[in-house]
Amino acid sequence: MADEVAALTMVRDRLPRHVVIVMDGNGRWAQQRALPRTAGHREGAKAVRRVVEACAERGIEVLTLFAFSSENWRRPRPEVEILMNLFVRTLRSEIRRLDAANVRMRFIGDHRAFSPTLQDYMVKAEQRTAHNTGLTLVIAANYGGRWDIVQAAQRIAEDVGAGRLQPGGVTPETFHRYTSLADLPEPDLFIRTGGEQRISNFLLWQLAYTELYFSERLWPDFDAADLDTACAAFASRQRRFGQTSEQVAPGTPVDDA
Ligand code: IPE
Ligand code: IPE
Ligand code: MG
Repeated sequence: MADEVAALTMVRDRLPRHVVIVMDGNGRWAQQRALPRTAGHREGAKAVRRVVEACAERGIEVLTLFAFSSENWRRPRPEVEILMNLFVRTLRSEIRRLDAANVRMRFIGDHRAFSPTLQDYMVKAEQRTAHNTGLTLVIAANYGGRWDIVQAAQRIAEDVGAGRLQPGGVTPETFHRYTSLADLPEPDLFIRTGGEQRISNFLLWQLAYTELYFSERLWPDFDAADLDTACAAFASRQRRFGQTSEQVAPGTPVDDA
């Protein structure tokens, strides 16, 4: 009992400020039930609602969800269209609830490829929730880590060309300011569901020192208990940022092996 309380206290004290999730496995979830892949995407949308609520309840500051990658356009056209319709419908039906829950919404990615209707919903959702002070929910849509780095490089080139920035002034810190999420705490915990152990062009720049956690659970099945398991794994890790154990936690036994 005392051990359990101690473990819970450790998880609460070492909660990730920023969690990012690759929500993978919708298609397989549906296939296992002999349903069309789109049924998996619909069920995945329900998991989004569950996990957003769980993050808000636990006091996680930022949740970034990978909803559609820049490579997902390669899927069969009907699946892409169904995903786009699902975005619009979900945004329309959820925005009131999210706003009431004090959630601040943000979208990252190259949105020019989306329909004007969807772009309009995204802008309106951001504006409506801009002053909320609870969970920041970032949706990555038509997002790619390489795109993010390239768009930063392009804007830096523009600023250098216009004389607003010197080439020698382009340091990792300045570069960071041009990337998506620059104004938010860096991701602490990366979760990928669905069993694959890859980044799939998600936040390449931002994941430099993020703790990686892979779950076999398919995204439509992911729930608050799975989130807690991931947070417990995070709490048990020692983040060293290039330093030694001794430097990070003086006095802890050193493993000489
Ligand atoms: C993730 O689930 C959802 C999106 C990429 C939009 P998948 O559709 O990739 O599911 P699997 O990997 O085929 O099971
Ligand atoms: C990553 O999943 C993208 C999202 C979850 C939105 P994918 O299913 O597209 O990744 P790969 O193709 O298996 O690498
Ligand atoms: Mg997948």
